[in-house]
Amino acid sequence: MKHALVTGATGGIGRAIALALRDNGHHVTALGRDPAALADLAREPGITPLALDMTDRPALRAAVADLAPDVLVNNAGMMPPLAPFDQLDEGEIDRAITVNLTSTLALTRLLLPAMIANGAGHIFFTGSTAGHAPFANLALYCATKSAIAGFAQSLRLDLAPHGLRVTEIVAGRVETGLYRDRLPEDARKAMYQGGQAVQPQDVAQMVLAVLNMPPHVDVSRFDILPTRQGVPTGSAGKDKT
Ligand SMILES: NC(=O)c1ccc[n+]([C@@H]2O[C@H](COP(=O)([O-])OP(=O)(O)OC[C@H]3O[C@@H](n4cnc5c(N)ncnc54)[C@H](OP(=O)(O)O)[C@@H]3O)[C@@H](O)[C@H]2O)c1
Repeated sequence: MKHALVTGATGGIGRAIALALRDNGHHVTALGRDPAALADLAREPGITPLALDMTDRPALRAAVADLAPDVLVNNAGMMPPLAPFDQLDEGEIDRAITVNLTSTLALTRLLLPAMIANGAGHIFFTGSTAGHAPFANLALYCATKSAIAGFAQSLRLDLAPHGLRVTEIVAGRVETGLYRDRLPEDARKAMYQGGQAVQPQDVAQMVLAVLNMPPHVDVSRFDILPTRQGVPTGSAGKDKT
């Protein structure tokens, strides 16, 4: 049976991808921190929860030492406070970069020897439209996601000779808990009301479609946005990703 490792599997997009991969015949290791969400995943057949704070590098190293996944979904991420960059606490810089970028690169580096030895495989990165366009009040988040975009596309060139595929998921607004600590409940509801957001299951469906392409085809990036999400304007609240 093929094995997949999904990070951020306790949340919206990652959980949907983990379940979809399981339904596609993979055994899934589902990484996250939230104990209740991990307990919930433990009740799902074909899913092994992995409780881990990805910023704990020694724990990360130990946890994946024996893993050789066929599919790696680098999805864990966080949203820094929504504010002009000059108003952010300096500590937010390291927090966001460590979660959204450094931990993801470290996990990928740790798993690559085993994945290359497999002779085939697929690595997904959950990027964002914020990695490809400017958004006011999101400069730090944009910095992490554009770094993911550059990394994913360059990594693809390194891995192509080994038969490994790399896909960047360029997501627009998806209805998840990403803003739970950043916006009041009514503002979050307004963001998602009236079918204005992509659903996590929509992203998961695309991941399966890409994964199930013939081995000689690599969809190196796909963009998935709500139909009514317009061209990003960079305005403070209108087109958050
Ligand atoms: N929602 C959107 O509109 C949107 C758009 C574009 C891109 N994205 C990206 O999609 C990805 C998934 O986010 P989401 O929207 O599904 O939000 P979410 O529900 O908040 O999920 C975030 C996931 O990341 C995990 N995570 C965060 N910090 C972690 C850490 N230190 N160690 C381990 N896991 C950690 C969380 O785990 P715990 O809760 O267990 O800590 C959670 O499972 C993120 O990379 C986000 O930037 C989202």
